[in-house]
Amino acid sequence: MLILGLNMFHADASAAIVLDGEVKFAVAEERLNRHKHFGGFPSLAIKACLDAVGANISDVEHVAVGQDSDANLTKKVQYALANPGKILNFIRLRQRKESMRDVRTLIANALDVDTSKLRFQEHHLEHHIAHIASSYYCSPWDKAAGFSYDGSGDFVSTMMARCEGNDIEVLDRVFLPHSLGSLYTMICEFIGYSKYGDEGKVMGLAPYGKDTYCSEIERIVSPKNGGFHLDLSYFKPLGSNQGMQVLPDGTVRLARHFSDRMEKKFGKPREPRSEISQRDMDLAYGLQVRFEEIFFHLLHELHKKVAAEDLAMAGGCALNSVANGKLFDRTPFRRTYIQPAAGDEGLAIGAALHTYHSVLKRPRRHELKNTYLGPEFSQSRIQSSLQNAGLHYEKFERAALVDTVAEQIALGNVVGWFQGRMEWGPRALGNRSIVAHPGLSNMKDVLNARIKHREWFRPFAPSIMADYQHQYFEHDHPSPFMLHVYKIRPEKRAALCAVNHVDDTGRLQSVTREENPLYYDLIAAFHRKTAIPVILNTSFNENEPIVCSPEEAIDCFQRTRMDVLAIGPFVVTKSKQEA
Ligand SMILES: [Fe+2]
Repeated sequence: MLILGLNMFHADASAAIVLDGEVKFAVAEERLNRHKHFGGFPSLAIKACLDAVGANISDVEHVAVGQDSDANLTKKVQYALANPGKILNFIRLRQRKESMRDVRTLIANALDVDTSKLRFQEHHLEHHIAHIASSYYCSPWDKAAGFSYDGSGDFVSTMMARCEGNDIEVLDRVFLPHSLGSLYTMICEFIGYSKYGDEGKVMGLAPYGKDTYCSEIERIVSPKNGGFHLDLSYFKPLGSNQGMQVLPDGTVRLARHFSDRMEKKFGKPREPRSEISQRDMDLAYGLQVRFEEIFFHLLHELHKKVAAEDLAMAGGCALNSVANGKLFDRTPFRRTYIQPAAGDEGLAIGAALHTYHSVLKRPRRHELKNTYLGPEFSQSRIQSSLQNAGLHYEKFERAALVDTVAEQIALGNVVGWFQGRMEWGPRALGNRSIVAHPGLSNMKDVLNARIKHREWFRPFAPSIMADYQHQYFEHDHPSPFMLHVYKIRPEKRAALCAVNHVDDTGRLQSVTREENPLYYDLIAAFHRKTAIPVILNTSFNENEPIVCSPEEAIDCFQRTRMDVLAIGPFVVTKSKQEA
């Protein structure tokens, strides 16, 4: 049975295809159309899903969308009536959403087929149930607490659920405008990070700050009735677009979230790209501290309702890997399964698996153990791409490839590592990665100057052989999808200086041979040469969506000052091109 899952007309539009309960392929539209966080209709992703399983759209029996505009309608109407200036906007948005619900016509147009060829049944699933489903149904557990939190989705910011067998029972919701995601976005905007997805940057800035504004930020958000409550005087009314607008070309734009009260309290907002002041860092610090406090409070509340040790979690805020890394010490939960695409692209998987397990009552058999669900390219395609680019390359057998690349990393060179199927979700996890030596003190500056051009305060991440994690980090819980930040042990900080953040932490990827044998062997080869079982891993891109195709990888290699490109079995060395 084929089920197509979709996230559409929402940030990070995506498609996923599930065959007999197993996720076979999943991709965000941005990787294919190269439009970051694209929020339109995922036409290319749908085609790629069908191609991957060799199917036509007429073979698809169910299409599931991770959005239901009828969900929580009473709450939406109540909010619109309480904000009369927004009613017209609300009605317009509702009309627009109605036209977007015609999935049949949208798919027929995207694939250029007649609607009579489509035999699928259509399902719409509330946003946060789809988030929780994306995590729980991919986890190995038969029972877990389910938690989802983000800016907003179907007028909800937070959901708690009991997950058992095939069922997800919703226990509680926090409705807009109360939203931890909106709080994070509001303060990010105030300190000059106003683009969709900038929250991760501010999480990296937070440890540079001090406890100057914690008590003020405490007043902006407080625990209430098992949930939490925002002091709305610090916020602009969100309006019916729930704080986010998708333009006709698919660009996602955030509405201004902060009110004039923020300015009265904290001074002028920082202009984007101007110098970062201590005030901005202190606000980031206070924000992260308070965010964590409310998050842990919510998890305690959830645990009172579901006495499990296993937590299945998703939603954009679940990308806050700093908070995730602390929850084992601060809550009763002992294990996490966090959907690697915890943001909204993950809704495609969640909606599809929910249809299979909850609606159709089919049994659960498949755990999602790795994120390599995207496109892959044949050796001949890669080779012809290299030839078309006029590059000189050498071809290696597997063992020699791993050894050669490990040697280059050990020498301090920066390597583009393009192998196998592209990762699903926002993190590069060893198939579309730029890799480098984690123990060279200048490596962060080298990467930023030559390729990444990122803000000075953002750390680079380590990939570690899972067997060595306990020797290097203070926590042993696996972090296969780079979604936990742990303290690095004091005696290992020098060896990992290029990935050791200012607060002596690292957002690690724990790598097992089972999950990614080639990448594991690369780290193992580096370990043999340097005695460090870790390599620095950053995404293969330069201010663009992560590269997907060989041509994009080659283009990124050529326009940046990367030293080496290892693409499939081929190795290209820049110095040899110049010679
Ligand atoms: Fe979401």
